[in-house]
Amino acid sequence: MTKAFNKYLITAALPYANGPVHIGHLAGCYLPADIYVRYLKAKGKEVLFICGSDEHGVPITIKAKKESITPQQVVDKYHLIMKQAFADFGIDFTYYGRTSSETHKETAQLFFQKLYDKGVFKEAITSQFYDEAAQQFLADRYVTGTCPKCSSPGAYGDQCEKCGASLNATELINPTSTLSGNPPILKETKNWFLPMGEIQDSADFKHYIQRIDSWKSNIKGQCNSWLSEGLQPRAMTRDLDWGVPVPLPEAEGKVLYVWFDAPIGYISATKEYLKQQGRSGEFESYWNNEETALVHFIGKDNIVFHAIIFPMMLMTHGNFNLPVNIPANEFLNLEGDKISTSKNWAVWLHEYLTDLPDRQDELRYVLTSISPETKDSEFTWKDYQTRVNSELVSIFGNFVNRVAVLCQKFYDGHIPASVSCNTDLYVKALDVLTADINASIESMENNLNQVKIRDAQADWMNIARAGNKFLAETEPWKLVKTDPETVKAILFEAVQLCAKLSIAAQVFLPKTAQKLAEMFGMNNLSWNLLGVNQIVLPGQALGKVEILFKQIEDELVASQIQKLNEKRTQPTGVTPELPGPKPEITFEDFSKIDLRIGKVIAAERVPKADKLLKLKVDLGFEERTILSGIAEFYTPETMLGKQVVVVVNLAPRKIRGIESQGMLLMAGDGKNELVSIVPEQGIMPGSEIK
Ligand code: MF3
Ligand code: ZN
Repeated sequence: MTKAFNKYLITAALPYANGPVHIGHLAGCYLPADIYVRYLKAKGKEVLFICGSDEHGVPITIKAKKESITPQQVVDKYHLIMKQAFADFGIDFTYYGRTSSETHKETAQLFFQKLYDKGVFKEAITSQFYDEAAQQFLADRYVTGTCPKCSSPGAYGDQCEKCGASLNATELINPTSTLSGNPPILKETKNWFLPMGEIQDSADFKHYIQRIDSWKSNIKGQCNSWLSEGLQPRAMTRDLDWGVPVPLPEAEGKVLYVWFDAPIGYISATKEYLKQQGRSGEFESYWNNEETALVHFIGKDNIVFHAIIFPMMLMTHGNFNLPVNIPANEFLNLEGDKISTSKNWAVWLHEYLTDLPDRQDELRYVLTSISPETKDSEFTWKDYQTRVNSELVSIFGNFVNRVAVLCQKFYDGHIPASVSCNTDLYVKALDVLTADINASIESMENNLNQVKIRDAQADWMNIARAGNKFLAETEPWKLVKTDPETVKAILFEAVQLCAKLSIAAQVFLPKTAQKLAEMFGMNNLSWNLLGVNQIVLPGQALGKVEILFKQIEDELVASQIQKLNEKRTQPTGVTPELPGPKPEITFEDFSKIDLRIGKVIAAERVPKADKLLKLKVDLGFEERTILSGIAEFYTPETMLGKQVVVVVNLAPRKIRGIESQGMLLMAGDGKNELVSIVPEQGIMPGSEIK
């Protein structure tokens, strides 16, 4: 980005509303975006910082199925959790929207309609997997089967998690629908495709894509490899029932592709925000004016959508700004492994704050220090401890605290007078200090301009280092009796340095910057004060002096590592909340279920099936064979003789070649716990439950 802008529209990838936020999200996207935005604002730029929940797409519907709630209930729950976590860590969005909003639906539909009217889309009929029992088309994730590449079972229609191959659902061997468990059929369906190959050859796109030459190498690399392979048309509509409905009469039952609707979320959220502010008239100045810089912050898995597909949508629509930069980050790993929501290998933001209350800036600092800007990086609790203790506590915190305490001691809690001082010791040390901090400030600005936040924060810490060196060389505590004037001069300079640290800290560590500003009585943190010699005036009283950072003890490191390992064996711990209630049913619905008391009269394991017990159950009117997935929680011996509750009119099912003629009622999630429901006292087998 070479041109200087005064107005910015900064976006951060809309996170899927299907789980809470973890440190990988923060380090990969939201923290660098927030730091950049805070920097721009401190420089006096006009900035909108836009984000929101991505509430459509297959991940949401899968989560809903897993928790037995509706997709809307899933997104309502996680929208709030995510929004709160971002707020707790000082991610200062101007507006955090959601793609299930009315404005979004309208905006996305109008956008689609415009492309449709301009004849951008190509219609095509393709064969897609269809589940006849569930009466719906199957997204790739809903089909599993044997991987055609490595022959492992259980590969998904879009990807095999064993060998990593990306697949088409139709390539799977023995495909099965995860909805009904039946093999799907192929059925023809019409969809609307973005002809990406054609757009790639257009003059507009060729002109746009030159920009990426000045962007980060990960973006360049991925784009060039996509472009050189030649882009294929991609369906912008899908046969799904969760999403923004396609606004065409002939497209009933179809929704917009989630990667079509989600980035439009940046546009609709801007609209919604400006409307709420009574500033709707400004919309065009942000989105349709080349004097405004559009910058997308994303993780590397989002590159093609933001660098190629969304710009193609914007340029075929016409009149929209195209991104001037896309600072994409690589991934953050955790204690030697990939962060994984499904394997519960993550540090969750809401849990971090429960265990380490008020320590958001420590996490911001460490995550920025290891920001995966150019390659994947790794978070470990040991490294967290080292960086907090030996940098935040020992260098930065120590410097600020020494300065404040000396002012309390020598000047009754006031900033000393500004005196001119020519002692050799002072003049020499000040020269070194001035050179050091000017170099650090210049480098910090350069780095922030290039969104190299990791280096920028290191420059900031170097300012504190220079301050410590200055105090160590001048040793004001030794001079106070013999040369009080020099001491005044030293501390006056040191206080100005604290003020500079605080101005720069507002971008990295906002809470800490606030505390510092109060300590030194500053009410203006404007970035250009970094070039001023007297920021805090002589004679002014100090505010409350407090220790900014506390040591991280070994016990905390040990307990956090232990917690990670314990939770890894309990995958469902990610969502301790219970699923919400299912949709209402009538009494008539309920009374269709025939529930009876049964007595287990025989029980054995099923060979080669770790989870199954084969039970013989006496129901009074007959004996039945029932297979039950409880073997991880009950041995055959403990089941024998037990009274149980049985659904007796459930259609029989064959499992492992054995017909199961009913089902036992159990409570619990089946992963961490499962307990059998039993009558309070012995009662005759076959008794009805009503
Ligand atoms: N929800 C996507 C993800 O988490 C990101 C969407 S970014 C947007 O990977 F641009 F589409 F909004
Ligand atoms: Zn495979």
